[in-house]
Amino acid sequence: MEKYVIKGGQVLEGEVTIAGAKNAALGILAAAVLTDEECIIENVPYVEDTKVLLAAIENIGAKVKYIDEHTVSICGGSIQDDEYLCVDDEYIRKIRASYYLLGALLGKFNRAQVALPGGCDIGLRPIDQHIKGFEALGATVDIDNGGKVVAKAEKLVGNHIYLDVVTVGATINIMMAAALAEGKTTIENAAKEPHIVDVANFLNSMGANIKGAGTDVIRIRGVQKLKGTCYSIIPDQIEAGTFMTMAAATGGNILIKNVIPKHLEAITSKLNEIGAKVIEYDDSVRVMADGRLKCTQIKTLPYPGFPTDMQPQMAVTLALSQGTSVITESIFENRFKYVNELARMGARIKVEGQSAIINGIERYTGASLVAPDLRAGAALVIAALAADGFSTIEDIKYVLRGYENFDGKIRDLGGMIQVVDSDKEVQKFKLMVG
Ligand code: UD1
Repeated sequence: MEKYVIKGGQVLEGEVTIAGAKNAALGILAAAVLTDEECIIENVPYVEDTKVLLAAIENIGAKVKYIDEHTVSICGGSIQDDEYLCVDDEYIRKIRASYYLLGALLGKFNRAQVALPGGCDIGLRPIDQHIKGFEALGATVDIDNGGKVVAKAEKLVGNHIYLDVVTVGATINIMMAAALAEGKTTIENAAKEPHIVDVANFLNSMGANIKGAGTDVIRIRGVQKLKGTCYSIIPDQIEAGTFMTMAAATGGNILIKNVIPKHLEAITSKLNEIGAKVIEYDDSVRVMADGRLKCTQIKTLPYPGFPTDMQPQMAVTLALSQGTSVITESIFENRFKYVNELARMGARIKVEGQSAIINGIERYTGASLVAPDLRAGAALVIAALAADGFSTIEDIKYVLRGYENFDGKIRDLGGMIQVVDSDKEVQKFKLMVG
């Protein structure tokens, strides 16, 4: 099994270029099947989640072609609309975004069967709001014995939908299904994340009529047909934030390129508050840190609040800061599993309910670690880079789901990290870096 081996203690310096947004890509790749024409999608991150979703899209009959590593052509015209059309393979169950094919296929064919989504185990992650939205549009939705979600409608008709919780997934799914529904749909209490806006822009470039994405009321006027398009995905807010906290935690100086600084404001303001220096340019940010940072309080919230997907990376940074910080997780109920791993590196963090109380220490010491999920895995890499000595991190499959060439980008910044798949290779790495 592949793992990272890391020698900590280097000051990370240089430039890193951020890939396209994984979470936007997952919505956009699925939405591309809504038209029979060809969609060319640029800036697709080359990560496991997008590869798995593309394999699933190909599996249901679409023509999928990588034009280059980051440009994908999808043509949904060859998908056969028959009652056996079903998205269900061992891979699709592993990724959360499989549920976007529900909204897309329901919108296109008025029926869809998709295996219940998997994804990181960070909480219950129900899909009741997705189902509520599809039902409001006129679909019946059942979960069959095999754990498949089966949605069917005579036809989809626009409606007024109030989401009981702010959810990214349901907002995107309902937008996709409503794009080809008859009449007007209003989604109230919609999520406002940058990737919601990106998916809406993509759908509009296909001829959809969606207004208000990025606010909490989205209005969709159904159109009869969508057409092919060429579209470039926005940069990944969370990958950028991960490198920002990496600079802060390692006392580094990193220019993070190909970002939209506005999407990073919640992270920028917290890093400034704890004493790191963030300089914003048009499409890049520089993060510098020198000496020990200060403590703070953070509560994760839907956008534009502090993103839950940055919570573990920020905790790793605060665990090295002076004083007592508190992080409250308000989106997912099981997102502190990395705390036990950090404790092995010397961190002093106590979890009480949905809050982590963090007493800053001066240094981490290297340890053998296991990544509990995607963002926590990235956070452990940051901790290991800041630690004294060597660390190994197992289960890096989670990290590979969402970060493109993570180890290569870190090496370019001067970090000592290698992907290895045996203890012998760990020893070789140790001998090599000394
Ligand atoms: C997406 C992101 C994930 C991020 C999360 C929150 C993707 C593929 N994943 O996940 O990286 O951490 O947004 O920013 O884009 N909820 C319900 N019922 C539902 C749906 C959600 O109660 O039908 C709850 C969830 O349990 C959670 C909250 O709503 O407490 C937010 O979840 P949601 O925004 O839907 O997250 P995902 O779309 O799964």
